[in-house]
Amino acid sequence: MAVREVCKIGNPVLREVARDLGAEEVGSGGLHELAADLVDTMRAEGGIGIAAPQIGVSVQVAVIEIDEASDRYPDMQPFVATFFVNPRVTVLDDTEQSFWEGCLSVPDLRGVVSRPRKVRVDYVDLEGNARSIEAEGFLATVLQHELDHLQGVLFIDRVRDTTRLATVSDYQRFWMDRPVEEPI
Ligand code: NI
Repeated sequence: MAVREVCKIGNPVLREVARDLGAEEVGSGGLHELAADLVDTMRAEGGIGIAAPQIGVSVQVAVIEIDEASDRYPDMQPFVATFFVNPRVTVLDDTEQSFWEGCLSVPDLRGVVSRPRKVRVDYVDLEGNARSIEAEGFLATVLQHELDHLQGVLFIDRVRDTTRLATVSDYQRFWMDRPVEEPI
């Protein structure tokens, strides 16, 4: 278990489509090691999710954990640490919702992203058990953000209104207390 360096925008690994894990890899010691490194790194960086490519490993694995005590995202419902292996996203309601997003791989930047409001994710857990989760609201956005990483997509690719891109301090100063506007 170790805190790994987070790959930043500009690193080509963030732009690759990550490969699926094979049946022989799911449940392996190597996957558990990767999972531990992902959680350690996410927690050390204060993130609520991280995907394997963000620590330089181009495989279809991501984790989300929303801690009640998170001060980056104080109003969010807690979500126990969950690993998504070989996930597939299905949109259940394509009505768009908008949230401010940030990313450990895009330092000091926030932007408004519009995404479908409800999704289902089919995946396997670390042991290879088939799982499915339906999510709406902020959790649906977090899931789509993290799983985008496995397709080589960063949130800034989905920012339509670049006039509202902001550093974290200017986000807090000018934007945080305003309602997010309707989809553009
Ligand atoms: Ni991210």
